[in-house]
Amino acid sequence: MQPTDAQNSPSAVVSNSPSPPTPEAYARASELLTAGELVAFPTETVYGLAANANDDQAVAKIFAVKNRPQFNPLIVHIPDLETAETYGIFNDTARQLAASFWPGALTLVVKRTPECTLSALVSAGLDTVALRLPAHPVAQKLLHNCSMPLAAPSANISGKISPTTAHHVAQNIGAEIAMIIDGGACSIGIESTIIQCTEHQPILLRPGGITAEAIEAITGNPLIKSEDDADTPNAPGQLKTHYAPHKPLRINAKNAKPNEAFIAFGPYITENTNSIFNLSESGNLTEAAANLFAMLHQADRSDAGSIAVMAVPNTGLGRAINDRLARAAYQGQP
Ligand code: TXA
Ligand code: MG
Repeated sequence: MQPTDAQNSPSAVVSNSPSPPTPEAYARASELLTAGELVAFPTETVYGLAANANDDQAVAKIFAVKNRPQFNPLIVHIPDLETAETYGIFNDTARQLAASFWPGALTLVVKRTPECTLSALVSAGLDTVALRLPAHPVAQKLLHNCSMPLAAPSANISGKISPTTAHHVAQNIGAEIAMIIDGGACSIGIESTIIQCTEHQPILLRPGGITAEAIEAITGNPLIKSEDDADTPNAPGQLKTHYAPHKPLRINAKNAKPNEAFIAFGPYITENTNSIFNLSESGNLTEAAANLFAMLHQADRSDAGSIAVMAVPNTGLGRAINDRLARAAYQGQP
């Protein structure tokens, strides 16, 4: 998080000490989340680092605080199935699994609905979204109180051990986030099982708190494991999980060539194009991350034949932005 973000927000108080789950704590958490701040909360699997999933800039802060070098898509937590179905299209298998395992340690990857309001960043630009209804009473109360979907990966620095107590969160990232709600130790202690339900046959993307056998007992069919199918790798960070523009993309551009859409970062001078987007006029990396996927989509849909992107500094969130752009630029080349 940029220090200025915290200073500009009236309700941001940086504190290391976890708050017990009192009515006041839920009210405060809702206020902070509405203001675009990050709040850590317990689930039955691990502690999550939550942001308003409808708010691009708040979601971008998650990547900044976790120091993630890549934009993996994030799980969106919702209070009930009805809400889930406003964001994702549930086929029969998805409904059956939700009926059997929600609330609980199961995440369902489904197609985004046409009216889905969630940030493009939670889906890393894909047309799918991962949804989960957690069973932990504190997670459920928070979701009902704040009345917004919560994007939440595990509340730790990327590459470090996932937190299963509020104390772990405080030690790891306490100084960088607005609030930690203490709900005791997580009962399961490993992340949720992720099942992709976009086709009739469900695919296991990540083993987790609910076993493949338990899921197979419900569906009556053996699960396809994503690693079984070399053409569709789905594990975190792998190329094909990420949105790639259809048009060729050129990085470190100084200006647009004829027939190129231009994605700027900070001040720019260019001619040759009317399709100009700016990731952040002020050169703010959190804002640039928040705009990245939406602008890639817009440039992809523009009249231009290809896309040129200005250089983005390779520090902080800039590393994740450059990782994504390098993959997009590589696409389609021999
Ligand atoms: O137990 C859990 O699931 C915890 C707690 C806090 O709920 N959350 C968690 O979230 O582990 P997260 O955001 O770290 O999980 C992200 C992973 C991605 O790395 C990717 O593997 C998968 O979920 N994922 C999310 N959206 C996806 C999508 N649209 N398509 C494929 N995989 C997706
Ligand atoms: Mg994690």
